[in-house]
Amino acid sequence: HGTSKINNLGHLEIGGVDTVGIAEQYGTPVYVYDVELIRKRARQFKQAFENENVKAQVAYASKAFSSVAMFQLVQEEGLSLDVVSAGELYTALRAGFSPDKIHFHGNNKSEEELKMAMEAGIGCIVVDNFYEIHLIAQLAKVHQQTVSILLRVTPGVEAHTHDYITTGQEDSKFGFDLQNGQIERAMELVLADSSFNLLGVHCHIGSQIFDGAGFVLAAEKIFKKIKEWKETFGFTPSVVNLGGGFGIRYTSEDEPLHPASYVEQMIQAVKAQSKLLEMDIPEIWIEPGRSLVGDAGTTLYTIGSKKEVPNIREYIAVDGGMSDNIRPALYQAKYEAALANRMKDVCSKEVSIAGKCCESGDMLLWDIELPETSAGDLLAVFCTGAYGYSMANNYNRIARPPVVFVENGEAQLVIRRESFEDLLKLDLPLSAKVR
Ligand code: LLP
Repeated sequence: HGTSKINNLGHLEIGGVDTVGIAEQYGTPVYVYDVELIRKRARQFKQAFENENVKAQVAYASKAFSSVAMFQLVQEEGLSLDVVSAGELYTALRAGFSPDKIHFHGNNKSEEELKMAMEAGIGCIVVDNFYEIHLIAQLAKVHQQTVSILLRVTPGVEAHTHDYITTGQEDSKFGFDLQNGQIERAMELVLADSSFNLLGVHCHIGSQIFDGAGFVLAAEKIFKKIKEWKETFGFTPSVVNLGGGFGIRYTSEDEPLHPASYVEQMIQAVKAQSKLLEMDIPEIWIEPGRSLVGDAGTTLYTIGSKKEVPNIREYIAVDGGMSDNIRPALYQAKYEAALANRMKDVCSKEVSIAGKCCESGDMLLWDIELPETSAGDLLAVFCTGAYGYSMANNYNRIARPPVVFVENGEAQLVIRRESFEDLLKLDLPLSAKVR
């Protein structure tokens, strides 16, 4: 997919760059991002709204993969940005991201984080709970500021891949309950306080979702409430944010919709509901993370040792693992892989790919078809662009790999590999006194 192809040397090429060359230049493991594919995904989401003439903001959920260069790319493509911590916010501001297009999420934003967001003048804070209303109100008074907010609701729709469940009340740590009066109490507070400019409401129903029904249902549940809010408070939202969660194809078993299809279903639902209530169509905001960067990322590893368990399986070990991709260990997530230096070789055996961490659970792929491998071969694991680098860690004091962007035949290092010195930079020696 994307700009990936097999070149005449039989190597995997991404963005016009030979991955064997990338491995030689930057070492392995290394994350490679197909920038053209990220741009394409961004445009697909934006275009879907433009086609329907609906005002919208597409905010990249930066938790999926955040870095200065990524944020600059997101800005270039005219998207907004969803951040969930001071660290993500700081990175965005340092990348020169327009504060007015940053949205701040989280179920326990600290006073420091809120202050930082307000001082930067970010576009919107997605308020999650009563404690936060209280904190923002206090800060807003001190700084004589009006803060634009959305109120996050839990709509009682929880979606995952093909399944969704709807409940009267969702058991979630996020947001105000839609069903038991919580959201109305919150609304009453913020509408009565001139520190707040209430733009509308937000919900996020899940991740890696393969159909549009859950989003439609969430929109319908919210609009039922909008009818009540109109009557009780004379308030109609100018923004309805339906979150992220659009699925991607990790393996051939996954069947996500086209990015635009999710959006089209949302738009039709919002249009129909607005018509019923005889109100203007609100702006629709979305927050895709995975679907913007997931399939644009490929991790390259070098194959090292092997172990054969007779009659059971062959383990092939690579020079990374759960330190650069924790998703298989954490969620039993599945991926596909290929030998990047020998793409034309025939797959002849079933093997399992082990990481190098001291933990039996550090397996990247189970039972995949590969050609006969030898040490030094280059393994490409696909679709690692979301929640790979962003969830990478230093378990076993393994240094985090670099990130390389490729586009139009050029490779650019955007995050360098951690060095031994980086690994020690927070360490302080035992003090002489204690010793
Ligand atoms: N908006 C909100 C409020 C969210 O909580 C999330 C993800 C997103 C947007 C973006 O969702 P996406 O489009 O990326 O599915 N670490 C897990 C995923 C956790 C998602 C958390 N929230 C994984 O690796 O699958």
